[in-house]
Amino acid sequence: MPPVRIRERGKTKKGTLKRLIKELFKRFPAQLIVSALCIIFNIFANVCSSLFMGVVTLTLSTGIQNGLNPLVDPVPVKYLGIPINTTVTNLIIALVIIYTIGVFASWFWNRTMAIVTQKFMNVFRKAMFNHMQDLPIRYFDTHAHGAIMSLYTNDIDTIRQFISQALPTTLSAGLAIIFSFTVMMMQSIWMTLVVIFCAFLMLLNTIIIGGRASKYFIKQQIQVSVVEGDIEETIQGLKVIKVFSHEEKSKQTFDLKNEQLRKHATSANIAGNTMMPINGNIGNFMYVLTAIMGVLILVIPGFKNLSLTSYREIAAADFYSIITSFLMLSRMFSNNVNNFSQQVTFIVMGMAGASRCFDLLDEQQEKDEGYVELCHIKKNLDGSIEETSEKTRDFAWKHFHKADGTTTYTEVKGDIVLTDVDFAYNPDKTILHNISIYAHPGQKIAFVGATGAGKTTITNLLNRFYDIADGKIRYDGININKIKKDDLRHSLGIVLQETNLFTGTVMENIRYGRLDATDEEVYEAAKIANAYDFITRLPQGFNTMLSGDGANLSQGQRQLLSIARAAVADAPVMILDEATSSIDTRTEKLVQDGMDKLMKGRTVFVIAHRLSTVQNSNAIMVLDHGRIIERGTHDDLIAQKGVYYQLYTGAFELE
Ligand SMILES: Nc1ncnc2c1ncn2[C@@H]1O[C@H](COP(=O)(O)OP(=O)(O)OP(=O)(O)O)[C@@H](O)[C@H]1O
Ligand SMILES: [Mg+2]
Repeated sequence: MPPVRIRERGKTKKGTLKRLIKELFKRFPAQLIVSALCIIFNIFANVCSSLFMGVVTLTLSTGIQNGLNPLVDPVPVKYLGIPINTTVTNLIIALVIIYTIGVFASWFWNRTMAIVTQKFMNVFRKAMFNHMQDLPIRYFDTHAHGAIMSLYTNDIDTIRQFISQALPTTLSAGLAIIFSFTVMMMQSIWMTLVVIFCAFLMLLNTIIIGGRASKYFIKQQIQVSVVEGDIEETIQGLKVIKVFSHEEKSKQTFDLKNEQLRKHATSANIAGNTMMPINGNIGNFMYVLTAIMGVLILVIPGFKNLSLTSYREIAAADFYSIITSFLMLSRMFSNNVNNFSQQVTFIVMGMAGASRCFDLLDEQQEKDEGYVELCHIKKNLDGSIEETSEKTRDFAWKHFHKADGTTTYTEVKGDIVLTDVDFAYNPDKTILHNISIYAHPGQKIAFVGATGAGKTTITNLLNRFYDIADGKIRYDGININKIKKDDLRHSLGIVLQETNLFTGTVMENIRYGRLDATDEEVYEAAKIANAYDFITRLPQGFNTMLSGDGANLSQGQRQLLSIARAAVADAPVMILDEATSSIDTRTEKLVQDGMDKLMKGRTVFVIAHRLSTVQNSNAIMVLDHGRIIERGTHDDLIAQKGVYYQLYTGAFELE
């Protein structure tokens, strides 16, 4: 089945919101619940303070009317049908306390959410990275590396915005809308109708202009990744651009992409920036309309009777208090409708980003059904072998037989047999046909053939980067599918066709081949690879820092380090893919001698374009379009006067 491609930017998979919230709750249940409680309390405090303002107005006016000093004398009043008998001073103290707790709750949830967001980002990135490490090579063949990179930058950032901002604001605004609406309904249906009408206008504005803004924000996000991709490619290909004097062309291409980004960003920001003021103005309009409605209720007696729910006959002064708190609540209502609509874009973008990250996490990891393990062994005098925890560097395959519960040990010798192997990267095109190879311990097997003939592909099958379609590969008589992938790769020392060095010292880069190698073993491996001399001439010798894939070294030097890395691995089987292609012939000869010494009694697969490299092989396989067309020793093949002979004498080029 072809792998699922990275979701197109801006597209959201169903159920993403639920999944993201679930992931969050799974990890930070306490913090989220406490934050939600703080948000609820904060909104409650806001609504309460509006109501308190109403009570303060009522107490103040009633007290003065009755000839009392409401600051010190308790005034009996009824507010929304509830009897209250206290002083204005007490009310103000209570108001200050509620406000203070509200502010504290708001500070607390903001702080908690900031911590939760960063922690979640940390574990999410880690989960993605760990998952990515175990994805099959095929995944990276079929996904652009820039697109994978942008999951860790752009997409993660939209999730951050969602968790830290959109999620709490939506909850808080939603609650504020519900609370304030309920209390407004309790105070006056007529005035609430005005609020509903204006809220409808705001909603309309949010859907029309906010919807446009979301669309453009997503376009902007897509274009940011296009521009980033262009910059990345330009930096990587800088030398090629300069060699072909393509600087102008490269600037023009960038200009076009950059201009497109400006257009989308402008449209997004215009739409985004106009939505807020329009909603704000509708809010102001609502404020005035509500006040007018309040006055109407007051002056038209019949209207007043219809307008109030629980207290029909009240004095005008009492009604002022209701209008005071109602206006505050309607302000709170409209502000929160505005806040709510502002989050729509962040939610849409966050969900699209999360969808893409989840796709990576859902990508199926490399399966490993292997159960045969590699273990260190001790050889007894009677020739028997015994598993040991010592690092003897003599190995055996530990094979547990389910049927009878026994465990057998097979000494690792490096006997590799491929029988009738077929393979295809894509089902529609078979790359290798009927490949059969017998490599006995201590033999050196060479693959030669034209570019694209399938040499690297064979080695990709030996280390199980890919699985074969048909046929069998046996390693010391065991089907390699039964061997644990890690252990199989442990038993192979590989120099890949493309050299890769990591940021770190030369020493660390060589030791990458075997982490427990001593300094002496690293020096020894460097000598075998003939890298010792040039390393000691580097400014800090083995402690010289390498960066940017070894940019401070020559291509040949980088290759020598890769060989040293494979040499330090000290594995029973070596695979050298074009290991010496960038090395001068004199150094190559020295490397070969070193390797030959190292490889005594081990199996080596060599791939080389230079036929001089493979002359001393026990068997040379000539590959053409995925088939072995000739095989034998150098002398056999020369005597055959076939393709190898023609290649060797320069009379023929493989196609
Ligand atoms: N990851 C891949 N996905 C699809 N096809 C691939 C992949 N890698 C290689 N191929 C195809 O498989 C064929 C064999 O490639 P391979 O890398 O084995 O050639 P090679 O003999 O090592 O060539 P070279 O001498 O250039 O290194 C080529 O036709 C190539 O296009
Ligand atoms: Mg190759």
